[in-house]
Amino acid sequence: MAYKIEMKNITKRFGTLVANDQVNFQVKPGEIHALLGENGAGKSTLMSILFGLYTPDEGEILIDGQKVEINNPNDANRLGIGMVHQHFKLVEVFNVLDNIILGFEDTHRGFVKYEKSVEKLNHIINTYKLKVDLDALINDITVGQQQRVEILKMLYRDSEIMIFDEPTAVLTPQEIHELMGIMKNFAKEGKTIILITHKLNEIKQVADRCTILRRGKMIGTVDVKSTTTDQMAEMMVGREVSFTVDKEDLKVGDTIFEVKQLSVHGRGRHAVKEVSFKVNQHEILGIAGIDGNGQTELVQALTGLTPIDEGEVLLHGHDISKYTIRKKYEAGLSHIPEDRHKHGVVLDYDLQSNLVIQNYYQKNFQKNQFLKFDAINRNANELIERFDIRSERGAKTTVRSMSGGNQQKAILGREISRAHDVLIAVQPTRGLDVGAIEYIHKQLIEERRTGKGVLLVSLEIEEIMNLSDRILVIYEGEIVGEFDPKKVTINELGLYMSGAKRGEKHA
Ligand SMILES: Nc1ncnc2c1ncn2[C@@H]1O[C@H](COP(=O)(O)OP(=O)(O)OP(=O)(O)O)[C@@H](O)[C@H]1O
Ligand SMILES: [Mg+2]
Repeated sequence: MAYKIEMKNITKRFGTLVANDQVNFQVKPGEIHALLGENGAGKSTLMSILFGLYTPDEGEILIDGQKVEINNPNDANRLGIGMVHQHFKLVEVFNVLDNIILGFEDTHRGFVKYEKSVEKLNHIINTYKLKVDLDALINDITVGQQQRVEILKMLYRDSEIMIFDEPTAVLTPQEIHELMGIMKNFAKEGKTIILITHKLNEIKQVADRCTILRRGKMIGTVDVKSTTTDQMAEMMVGREVSFTVDKEDLKVGDTIFEVKQLSVHGRGRHAVKEVSFKVNQHEILGIAGIDGNGQTELVQALTGLTPIDEGEVLLHGHDISKYTIRKKYEAGLSHIPEDRHKHGVVLDYDLQSNLVIQNYYQKNFQKNQFLKFDAINRNANELIERFDIRSERGAKTTVRSMSGGNQQKAILGREISRAHDVLIAVQPTRGLDVGAIEYIHKQLIEERRTGKGVLLVSLEIEEIMNLSDRILVIYEGEIVGEFDPKKVTINELGLYMSGAKRGEKHA
């Protein structure tokens, strides 16, 4: 059978780093083909080459058996190739319609004519049930809806080949379910789909074949039905991966962190309402909930990114809610933020600066107002070693050029290595490969063992179940139930998360 896409001996270098090393990648027409690999394995790079964002140093691309030149995304569009990027590429201050037709406007004497576009779009929206408000600003819609806009962009351009780069990392379970359905429909219609994801169960669910990359090299292509998730994981990291977390029984210690009757009015209805809980030493307290139920506001209030309207936050019995952010950290708080680009790193600083970003002013890194670069560099090298942070130029790498997983490891390393008693970890494994997830989970368990208190906020219900000693469910800004993970099922939790059930008012 002729392949729809054939990428032959593709090599792409960034400086001395070989992001793609003689990769051969073949996709059949009408299949859903998964692309799997560790963080930094070269998946986005390979797809960016197919989409014309990067030019390969070596190799060639064939579409329908014909050799093609793809020098920019317009070439890709002409060849019927569309891509939904890992980090969406939308103009936030434009509305949905303008974003979709951008670059493909129907114009008359320099004016955009919308009628035909809107007609075509409405047809697409109805056919695929991709409902979205065309007049809404991108800034005002949810991430799930933004993704629909990206998909509509591809359909509007009549793409026959659709590349999805980690489309589910930011979606809720419900949205993921819908997206899987949409992809299957596309494939049924004969469209060819490439799906990059770290979630092996998604691959099992929708993909026909799966190609595995490791450190820039192609390891192999397997038939998904006849391959187990364990086998795929092993191909990907080159060793066996454990999906279960080993957690020893520990007696919890004293209460170290306490939140009392905390309220945040916020802008919308999903503020935080009278939330109270305690985190003890040797304990991981998990907060489960569907995205947008106040988790973000709660964490921002605890860490000082949002003012608190009512209530107290006690660390070692002292109310820290009025402290400056710097003082909060000095008092013993650590934080792995939800949005690593906004609140976790400064993308254009190098790795070593990012690793001292909260304590560069302290005496180990500064003397007489001068930074001690030797010490800063040594600190970075220690953390790189200890947390296996991979990058092109080590301590001097600009963080923007690092893969998402490695950026996350850098944040984790920084927050764990700094003196602290409580760690607030929000979505600590979002977008990470199974090897990195295993690693980060071990680190959180280690925090628990050494007597820290961990507040884990995650949308991944299995992560919450596996790691937590106690689970709170948050719904519309309120804690609606407290559970022992050994005694509750995922289904039961789901009922509370969706608001279908609620417990006694939690005190
Ligand atoms: N523009 C760039 N400049 C320099 N290095 C880059 C650039 N883009 C990617 N890299 C490097 O190339 C390697 C492959 O990156 P790529 O983004 O393709 O990984 P990935 O498999 O998509 O990872 P992830 O799962 O974290 O998204 C990484 O080591 C990354 O740091
Ligand atoms: Mg990527």
